[in-house]
Amino acid sequence: PDRLSFIVLASERDLWAPVAERFGKAHGVRVEMVEGPNATDLRESMYTTSLLAGDDSLDVVYMDVTWTSKFAAAGWLLTLDDVFRPEELSALLPQALDAGRYRGHLYRIPVRSDVGVLYYRRDLLDASGIAPPETFGDLVAAARRLQSPPDRWGFVWQGSQYEGLTCVFLEILRGAGGFWVDPDSLEVGLDRREAVAALEFLRRSRAVDAISPPGVTSLKEDDSRRVFQDGRAVFLLNWPYVWRLAQGDDSRVAGKIGVSAVPHAPGRQGGGTLGGWGFGISRFSRNPALAAQFIREAVSLESQRALCLTSGYAPARVEAYRDPRLLASNPLLPEIFELHLNAVTRPAIPGYALASDILQRHVSACLAGLATAESALSNAAKETRLLLGRSR
Ligand code: GLC
Repeated sequence: PDRLSFIVLASERDLWAPVAERFGKAHGVRVEMVEGPNATDLRESMYTTSLLAGDDSLDVVYMDVTWTSKFAAAGWLLTLDDVFRPEELSALLPQALDAGRYRGHLYRIPVRSDVGVLYYRRDLLDASGIAPPETFGDLVAAARRLQSPPDRWGFVWQGSQYEGLTCVFLEILRGAGGFWVDPDSLEVGLDRREAVAALEFLRRSRAVDAISPPGVTSLKEDDSRRVFQDGRAVFLLNWPYVWRLAQGDDSRVAGKIGVSAVPHAPGRQGGGTLGGWGFGISRFSRNPALAAQFIREAVSLESQRALCLTSGYAPARVEAYRDPRLLASNPLLPEIFELHLNAVTRPAIPGYALASDILQRHVSACLAGLATAESALSNAAKETRLLLGRSR
């Protein structure tokens, strides 16, 4: 029989199973899920290796929001311009849908969204009469007041050298009023004073204000979620999926947490990083029409429910944010929807992975005390300009 396959996280197999099964039965096909590594950077390499070789074994490309330009520019994806009707597209979150376009063509349909948010311990803040922080200064003050290290730290985030660090730096950068790369002019903002202030904020959190644990530089999303869920942090930067898990039986903070926008410098506007995952169709697929049907199925309300109910993922479909069944299990949805409106996007450039790698290396060096924020970012800016100059 026909088959369709794509790469998933080990933890996503159960989420996708009902969608895959229903689709498989209805269309007489086998939907295969190939397990990939957790980090987005590593899954990108896995797809890249396969697509470079013209391999036809992966039909559906399950892509991070940042992969579109590279994969489209390389010619690895079919355009979806004539595959989906306008009313099908307008049912999806506009921010998430836009991330699927490259040079005016559509290559990726979002199936779940993500936006960086600040989690806080509502019980601790309430007990001290402290409001959720709006500015970086509020955050530091509240963290210092409510922490009791080493048992409970003030502020936890993703400091490990990987894509998650780029996401954290970017939302702090946005709050400081700076920018990374302007996708249209290719101007680089990393050596401006706002960017230096952003990196200084992260460095100081750990090394000076001592609100972040020394080990924050080895935390990824799920490690930091554990710290928060075990009651060992007051504030956490992370994605929406944390909320649902933090209400679970093995959580020490169930019923005690709140969510707000990522803080900012006085007079600036904050915004979380836009994340999320979507489906493209490999141009080497032998079943592109079937792959398109599968994508359609994945964004149906029924599938969005199956996918988001148990995972706490933010849906890609707008009406899912008003769905009574999803709302009953995740009352945060309206807030997450709102937070999308100010989300900051990573630059949609074909060299994205390289640009992010440059940023990750220099930000890490500064956090590790090997470079000042100013010299780290001046080097990052130089390398980024070289990279972009070459790609022009
Ligand atoms: C989440 C986001 C994705 C981001 C990644 C970074 O999976 O959805 O966009 O690149 O985290 O670790």
